[in-house]
Amino acid sequence: MEIRFLSCAVFVCSAAYFTFAQADTAPGDVEINAISIDKPLTDVAGDPANGKKIFINRKQGNCLACHANSDMKDQLFHGEVGPSLDGAGTRWQEDHLRTILVNAKAVFGDQTVMPGFYSLEVGADVRKDLIGKTILQAQDIEDLVAYLSTLK
Ligand code: HEC
Repeated sequence: MEIRFLSCAVFVCSAAYFTFAQADTAPGDVEINAISIDKPLTDVAGDPANGKKIFINRKQGNCLACHANSDMKDQLFHGEVGPSLDGAGTRWQEDHLRTILVNAKAVFGDQTVMPGFYSLEVGADVRKDLIGKTILQAQDIEDLVAYLSTLK
């Protein structure tokens, strides 16, 4: 009985995962109009609390390596390569933030040091096993957009 329930649960979960995974816009299919990406990359609304975690996580966004952010004063070592992100949600609309995160080059030009987190347009010397992979997933981008929009 228990086993049957479990395999049922696994089926439902994987079916749900498959549906979500299919709904994500692939990195090569993202449409950028000037500096806007109007359409969210997934069908799941961004979660600001998770976005904050991705921002801090040194193995994911690692945004603090380059940006200071007063919303996380408890974190040590805020970088100074990029501007402070205080008030980013006032300076930028969501569709612009989405572009900055997907491919910062589309907003700041080719010379920017900010990585394209959902772009395949990366440097020439990419480790073989990383070719065709993005730094973050579509839902991570949406969560970060939701979080940055709270920085007023
Ligand atoms: C390697 C350094 C680096 C990393 C890592 C980085 N950025 Fe940036 N970012 C920059 C620089 C530099 C700029 C300024 C644009 C320019 O002139 O290139 C910038 C600009 C921005 C801006 C617009 C700034 C404003 O408020 O006007 C936002 C928003 C932003 N970054 C968010 C992020 C987020 C979120 C992450 C993590 C997912 C991140 N950045 C990771 C370097 C970085």
